[in-house]
Amino acid sequence: MRCASSRAAAFARGSLFAMCVALLAAVPHAAVATSDEAAGPALVRTYCAGCHRETSRGQFDRISSIRKSPEGWVMTVFRMHNVHGVALPERERDAIVRHLADTQGLAPSESAAGRFALERRPNVRDLVVDSELDRMCGRCHTNARVSLQRRDAAEWLKLAHTHVGQWPSLEYQASGRDRPWWHIATTRLPGALATLYPFASPAWSAWRSRPAHDLSGRWIIAGRVPGRGAYYGTAQIRSTGDGAYAATYSLHTVDGRTIVGTSSALLYTGYEWRGRASFDGRDTREVFAASEDGTRIAGRWFDADHAEDGGDWLAVRADAAPQVVAVEPQAVRAGTTATVVLVGPTLDDVSSVEVGAGIAASIVERSPGALRVRLVIPKDAAPGRHRVAVGAASGALAVYRQIDRIDVTPDFGIARLGGGRIAPVTAQFEARGFTRLADGSDLALGPLDAEWSAAPFDDEAARTRDALFAGRLEPDGRFVPAVGGPNPAREFSGNNVGNLAIEARVRDGDRVLAARAHLVVTVQRWNTPPIY
Ligand code: HEC
Ligand code: HEC
Repeated sequence: MRCASSRAAAFARGSLFAMCVALLAAVPHAAVATSDEAAGPALVRTYCAGCHRETSRGQFDRISSIRKSPEGWVMTVFRMHNVHGVALPERERDAIVRHLADTQGLAPSESAAGRFALERRPNVRDLVVDSELDRMCGRCHTNARVSLQRRDAAEWLKLAHTHVGQWPSLEYQASGRDRPWWHIATTRLPGALATLYPFASPAWSAWRSRPAHDLSGRWIIAGRVPGRGAYYGTAQIRSTGDGAYAATYSLHTVDGRTIVGTSSALLYTGYEWRGRASFDGRDTREVFAASEDGTRIAGRWFDADHAEDGGDWLAVRADAAPQVVAVEPQAVRAGTTATVVLVGPTLDDVSSVEVGAGIAASIVERSPGALRVRLVIPKDAAPGRHRVAVGAASGALAVYRQIDRIDVTPDFGIARLGGGRIAPVTAQFEARGFTRLADGSDLALGPLDAEWSAAPFDDEAARTRDALFAGRLEPDGRFVPAVGGPNPAREFSGNNVGNLAIEARVRDGDRVLAARAHLVVTVQRWNTPPIY
């Protein structure tokens, strides 16, 4: 890489560089919209070409030979600012990220494996790629971060150089010093990575050449918030031009509350929906993906200040073929009456619902895309999965006589202390039930209400009284960590960290079922990059 203009080169060497960028920033830009084919390259030429040579028209050294997720581009451009001093006005920065994500993004099939990282799902196990890569690359950040980029071998090699150049202690840390890290990173790995995650791919070529879908219209929504329950409703999505959308949501919780909200979103790479929503004053972020055929939008939303606190989201076009996208709750007990909500496009038009196993069903309420149905389940209803026929569509409902087993999910969780400007990272646990069928298999019954308690995970945790100091467990299974920092009440004024067993107990008649998970309450996270 070299600096293209002598003025930029001179500035880049000294502290005057910031001034150079300030001058560049003062250059007025008539159009920053990226739907204008020429605007993107023009912005890159203005703000980046001082260091990234334009090798041929619109092709910039390093920049044009990598593909990344929108968050990946945000991180890179942030590093250009943070490490290399590039000052970019917000509007131009956003337009550059948009342009790069649109023209050098990932196809839906390429981002699929690492989506959990973009969605910031808490307590998900990282991708397991192969044992060498897991140790070489997956020890400081997720393998998902690696999986969300595409480069050829030469670019993967340059990334190894960037790592050692910027974090030279890398080779002296555990998993760095006990192997020839640099040798492996510069010999075997670039080729292996280029095979796994190549710059050129048929999936990307096909995705780039397909026409864009317009997501405007009416959608049926179904989702769940771990620990809190399911919700459903409708969304009205409106294009506001240039891949931007405005949405209004009208949602209902299964227990009858109504929640309304609005969102404004940008669609990156033709399918990556990134929204900022507001529900009764609560700010949330949306990381959704539209399906390749443009008929579904799925992903996760989360609290703007607590990425771990959020829920699943599925939107299906309201005029799609009849289908059941959610049955809530997913299980009912024989010998009881129950109300279930069935969600899906055109369901509210049907006149009757039929369930097997002698279950009587009557529709008690219709709302757009949803039916509330009252079920009378006979005592002798056969345990198992039963078909729920709703007009031309069908779903499934589990019937059980008793709960035979529960588990706690996640089975291993991490919570982080808060304090000062750092919000604590909570951990939500859920108990899930299973019934044993005649063939010996376990049928999942979904989440169950449980009584929760926290206990020391082992003798040492009992000795240091971790359950007392590390935080509190709320009645719905959410662990809220304590404040960080030295605590004079603890041995050696220790931090409020803890090693805990989280236990769920579910009563079923006169039996009590119990299950445990492991929770580590650890120190604050000081850096929260968009992709861990
Ligand atoms: C002041 C010089 C400078 C400017 C201006 C600059 N960069 Fe960089 N860029 C660098 C350096 C140095 C590296 C190599 C080290 C690194 O990756 O941090 C780099 C590396 C990169 C890479 C490769 C990183 C990777 O993923 O391995 C990309 C992509 C990139 N820059 C994008 C941009 C974009 C986009 C802009 C304009 C918004 C920009 N750069 C402006 C100095 C600059
Ligand atoms: C010592 C810890 C460490 C190890 C080991 C490590 N990384 Fe990183 N990596 C980082 C840090 C820190 C960043 C953040 C860079 C930034 O400022 O954006 C990063 C960033 C990245 C990025 C995003 C860079 C961008 O600009 O798009 C990728 C991709 C990546 N690493 C891949 C790898 C690969 C591949 C390996 C194994 C060869 C590896 N990492 C090993 C610490 C590490």
